[in-house]
Amino acid sequence: MALLEIRKLGKSFGDKKILKDISFELEKGQTLSIIGSSGSGKTTLLRCINFLEKADEGTMSLNGEIIYDAAKDQDFKEKQLGLIRKHFGLVFQQFNLFPQYTALENVTLASRLQGKDIKEKAIGLLEQMGLADRMDYYPHQLSGGQQQRVAIARAMALDPDILCFDEPTSALDPLLTSEVLRVIRQLADKKMTMIIVTHEIAFARLVSDKVIFMDDGQIIEKGDASLIDNPKDERTRHFLSSLDER
Ligand SMILES: Nc1ncnc2c1ncn2[C@@H]1O[C@H](COP(=O)(O)OP(=O)(O)O)[C@@H](O)[C@H]1O
Ligand SMILES: [Mg+2]
Repeated sequence: MALLEIRKLGKSFGDKKILKDISFELEKGQTLSIIGSSGSGKTTLLRCINFLEKADEGTMSLNGEIIYDAAKDQDFKEKQLGLIRKHFGLVFQQFNLFPQYTALENVTLASRLQGKDIKEKAIGLLEQMGLADRMDYYPHQLSGGQQQRVAIARAMALDPDILCFDEPTSALDPLLTSEVLRVIRQLADKKMTMIIVTHEIAFARLVSDKVIFMDDGQIIEKGDASLIDNPKDERTRHFLSSLDER
């Protein structure tokens, strides 16, 4: 049984349909990459999956159990959304750390654990992110790559079933990009279940069990990582060749 199953998800803003008929499954321990041009709906999809937006069509299931049915659950209140949100973690493009707190505090504040337990856990996570010597630094004292690794530790502190990344390296220069991709790769090796929106095609080829190509709010192709080298759809080919030319 799939850990996550998305069925016929749809989302509109006003009368503009942004996501159409999105369906896919993700098994526990797998990494899914979502690739597509700017404006194709990738961020909106991640926001719906994380319940920062409510999808207005379709269903989402975890371990075979429907956790959200757009036909029935439109009136979900913050409390209910809060409960289902706990299954998911999201790492943003722009890190979004609290500037007034240290790296360690940014991680401990995220957690529902308290006291000594969370501190130990946060220290362990920051060590795992290669930040053992940066725990007491404030965000402005850290490079973008270090800040993003703190943000990943913060997301992990909540023990999400599924960790999502929205272009986690697009605000970083190449050197810092590689240090962030390295820790994401370590998470993939440890079989963290992940959904990664990325333009880093070589990285996606390396870590992905599944790949989805999106265009204009739709999935135009999906398959395993080999799809990256053998896209069938003309729009996918065009998009991939535009990345090569960067
Ligand atoms: N809150 C919103 N209100 C209205 N339109 C939105 C909103 N968020 C995104 N959009 C529109 O949805 C489309 C997809 O955006 P987005 O999901 O950010 O795409 P991507 O992440 O692939 O670049 C764009 O046309 C964007 O302008
Ligand atoms: Mg986006």
